[in-house]
Amino acid sequence: MAADYREAYGDWGLVLGGSEGLGRAVAHQMAKRGLNVALAARRQGPLEETARAIREEHGVKAKTIALDLVSQDVVNQIETGMEGEDVAFLMYNAAAEPYGSFLDLDIEEHLFNIELNCSSVTRVAHHFGRKLAERGKGGLVIASSLAAAVGLDRWITYGAAKAYDNILGQGLWYELGKHNVGACSFMIGTTWTESLQRTQKKLGGVFAETRTPDGLPEGMAIPQLPEEAAENLFNQIDEEWLPVIYANPDDVARWNGMVQAPLPAVIRMAAQMQEAWYE
Ligand SMILES: NC(=O)c1ccc[n+]([C@@H]2O[C@H](COP(=O)([O-])OP(=O)(O)OC[C@H]3O[C@@H](n4cnc5c(N)ncnc54)[C@H](OP(=O)(O)O)[C@@H]3O)[C@@H](O)[C@H]2O)c1
Repeated sequence: MAADYREAYGDWGLVLGGSEGLGRAVAHQMAKRGLNVALAARRQGPLEETARAIREEHGVKAKTIALDLVSQDVVNQIETGMEGEDVAFLMYNAAAEPYGSFLDLDIEEHLFNIELNCSSVTRVAHHFGRKLAERGKGGLVIASSLAAAVGLDRWITYGAAKAYDNILGQGLWYELGKHNVGACSFMIGTTWTESLQRTQKKLGGVFAETRTPDGLPEGMAIPQLPEEAAENLFNQIDEEWLPVIYANPDDVARWNGMVQAPLPAVIRMAAQMQEAWYE
């Protein structure tokens, strides 16, 4: 499979937000398929730790790029960090997840969310999308969220940004597909990442102590393991690129249930679930 992957895509994968959680799991899947991987995030410590584990487990090269994705020259920083290597397979994973009432949160938090979840991903997809299209091969995965399905109380601008990511990934599936470049929106539900665990602890959520608490409110799913989500992504890509790839096959029904239900009812119901989750 390793030779096939390198032939189909090229030599280097890059995960933006690749030091922990889902990004780390995706990087392991890339390496398992024989790609060298570059990992980008802000904190050098977790980056180095993940890079070391990838080298040891998969015998590929792994490099780290310490950067903040919210930066006008993010593309130059990535190119410098790649040290002349071409990016063949890219995932934009990192996100900002401002939680709270739209009115109570500072405007700066909403705008930061748009920068990280919309502007930066657009910069990166435009720059590397052009390069992949020119080469006539490659892959580009954009992380979205089930929060994009309907207006979600307490996560309004996060969900709106993830809806942008979902549509961006779908549109690129078609446009880049014409150049033999795979692209998709990666539709992610609740996932047991370090970031989720930190948020749950901070807000006192139902998953603050454990992934599998007793007496979950009805309709609430146990968080998926990031390794399982990443494996599902690559199993689907190995078969065929789709405009939207679901991290958890059960989420297809959840998504359809939300977008097909009468909007006032589903928005109220989702808000009530947030209350049950956090209060
Ligand atoms: N976890 C869930 O339940 C869930 C549910 C639905 C969708 N998603 C989506 O899944 C993706 C991954 O989520 P996640 O839970 O793993 O957490 P995340 O906080 O979105 O991603 C964590 C990774 O991104 C890096 N990162 C965060 N901000 C960054 C920045 N400004 N610049 C560079 N790197 C940055 C982190 O390292 P540093 O902190 O060191 O920078 C870490 O490597 C996101 O797109 C999220 O929206 C997650």
